[in-house]
Amino acid sequence: MNIYSLIRPLLFTLDAETAHTVTLKLLKAAYVSGLSKRLYPTLKDKPVKVMGLDFKNPVGLAAGLDKNGYYIDALAALGFGFIEIGTVTPRPQAGNPKPRLFRLPEHQAIINRMGFNNLGIDHLLTQVKKSNYKGILGINIGKNFDTLIEKAVDDYLIGLRKAYPAASYITINISSPNTQNLRQLQQGDESRKLIATLKEEQLKLQREHGKYVPLALKIAPDLTGEDISRIAKLLLEFEIDGVIATNTTIDRTDIANHPLAKEAGGLSGNPVKDKSTAVVKGLSAELQGKIPIIAAGGILNADDAQEKFAAGASLVQVYTGLIYRGPELIREIVEGARHKPQG
Ligand SMILES: Cc1cc2nc3c(=O)[nH]c(=O)nc-3n(C[C@H](O)[C@H](O)[C@H](O)COP(=O)(O)O)c2cc1C
Repeated sequence: MNIYSLIRPLLFTLDAETAHTVTLKLLKAAYVSGLSKRLYPTLKDKPVKVMGLDFKNPVGLAAGLDKNGYYIDALAALGFGFIEIGTVTPRPQAGNPKPRLFRLPEHQAIINRMGFNNLGIDHLLTQVKKSNYKGILGINIGKNFDTLIEKAVDDYLIGLRKAYPAASYITINISSPNTQNLRQLQQGDESRKLIATLKEEQLKLQREHGKYVPLALKIAPDLTGEDISRIAKLLLEFEIDGVIATNTTIDRTDIANHPLAKEAGGLSGNPVKDKSTAVVKGLSAELQGKIPIIAAGGILNADDAQEKFAAGASLVQVYTGLIYRGPELIREIVEGARHKPQG
């Protein structure tokens, strides 16, 4: 039974952020009551090794849906091969004023300017401890909105040190359009300094904890070919373990005539699909399989996922597709995953 197609029309009568919260609460109730097991029977494994980690299948949850790690078990019960929580910042922060989340069903898209609303990394780590999840858990870290951009490295260092013992991998998010100047960290000297510092710290933490936790850099779709090439070279130089392509776009070309087109924020879903795929292709040409690519952006069905694999991705993540298609999307992609990603 595809229960999501039954409740979706009701959820879509609510404003987007309320619907989001209600859905996650329903999901948790379904998990706690044991209903999830009946609604979402276990998927057949499609194991893949990426960044040295064993994933039971290549379909993950993208960051931003479970910013505080409240719903890890409930989301895992849907069949994901990995779950990424966050973005989390060192200190709690409220994010931008509401409304800050908008649905554009005509485009299978979302605009959001949440602004890293989260309860801080200590709170998130308490939630991780409470969960029963044993699969691959990514923790996505960012900076507080009021930390000066010149001091951003310090926030990422706090995130890295604190998340290290609890995470399977850690994502460095420098691509959200909703924190002022954040995406500047993708540029020239700033990206080099950030990556060099975090790599050094990762190796220190490896010695301290006796385990290696991979680092992935999450980048924007609004980068030039030159930017992509420069970032790929940095990833290779500093042996960063993975790259997530992409975050949401600030480009409105595809939705120019939509009444919500002028809302500030990041656009996700179908309108970002081709831009994200182009970034995956650009990275793939530069990285030559030396560093794995995790693709996100506009994956709404198995064919969209297949396009990302064909472009060079080893894993995929979904967010907007989950809102429009429901958990059935995960099964569809896992079962349709014809490509066998490389480790
Ligand atoms: C409401 C919303 C909130 C998001 N929050 C985050 C976030 O906190 N950190 C992050 O790295 N990406 C965040 N993203 C971006 C997604 O993780 C993903 O990279 C992007 O939406 C493209 O995938 P999609 O088209 O499947 O949604 C968010 C996306 C949406 C729609």
